[in-house]
Amino acid sequence: MATDVAVITGAGSGIGAALAVELADRGLSVALIGRRRDALERTCASLPEGATGFVLPGDIAIRDDRQRLITKLGERLEPTGARLRYLVHNAGVGEPATGIEGIDPDDLAQALAVNVTAPLALTQGLLPLLRAAYPSRVLMVGAGIADRPQPGTGSYGISKKALARLFEQLTMEFARSAVTEPDVALFQPGLVDTPGIRTHLEAARRCGLPHVDYLDQALAAGQSRSAEAVAGAMAEALIDISTEHFAGAFLRP
Ligand SMILES: NC(=O)c1ccc[n+]([C@@H]2O[C@H](COP(=O)([O-])OP(=O)(O)OC[C@H]3O[C@@H](n4cnc5c(N)ncnc54)[C@H](OP(=O)(O)O)[C@@H]3O)[C@@H](O)[C@H]2O)c1
Repeated sequence: MATDVAVITGAGSGIGAALAVELADRGLSVALIGRRRDALERTCASLPEGATGFVLPGDIAIRDDRQRLITKLGERLEPTGARLRYLVHNAGVGEPATGIEGIDPDDLAQALAVNVTAPLALTQGLLPLLRAAYPSRVLMVGAGIADRPQPGTGSYGISKKALARLFEQLTMEFARSAVTEPDVALFQPGLVDTPGIRTHLEAARRCGLPHVDYLDQALAAGQSRSAEAVAGAMAEALIDISTEHFAGAFLRP
């Protein structure tokens, strides 16, 4: 039987790493993308016994890296007949900042590159494989901040809003395509206790931002979800729910 493959960006930590374990546990071969090879290899080593995973180190903000990743995936999958069933745009960045003067345009450019341009370019580059594997699915990881501007969250919030708009655009374009396209959904995880949120919290503290108190309290009181719990909900969305409930949907855990 042909192997089904899931590609996960940002698979070296947090939600992406937990999702790799969850999907491998459900029998998928997982392709792990991120900049730090050692982090990806740790994720690979944590997969359940007998699972298959492979690391694809690369910076998805860089065009040549994206192209190399797309080419490598094709070379890896095509000779074996493996099918690219799931593409998860999970990597996300964006630094907090103090006031409007504090928003660094270069950080906004980086957040847009990772959170918006890369999901578009990787989806475009992998479309032949996703079409050939239909029913295939693309899942984008959004954030509630996209619709709730808060002090100091400019680069991250603006780029996540743009990602939500990209999701709408892809949904519309795919619906009118002459060929069968992958189904696309946007998943908003809520507050999740990950290395990413902990790093954000410390940077926001240095900026003196007001949402630090909320984050401190929520994390201390266990009001956040674990990466594993969110990964379970994402895996369920990817694999278990019907096309009718997945395609074009805005999903939460
Ligand atoms: N945690 C939360 O409360 C929360 C809430 C809402 C939404 N989210 C979203 O959930 C997703 C995962 O977040 P997380 O909390 O699990 O964060 P995380 O632990 O920081 O994971 C993000 C991953 O993205 C990778 N990454 C960053 N820049 C990259 C680049 N240029 N190229 C390739 N990979 C890159 C990082 O690995 P490298 O550094 O090795 O590249 C890292 O492993 C993000 O999209 C985030 O916005 C999280």
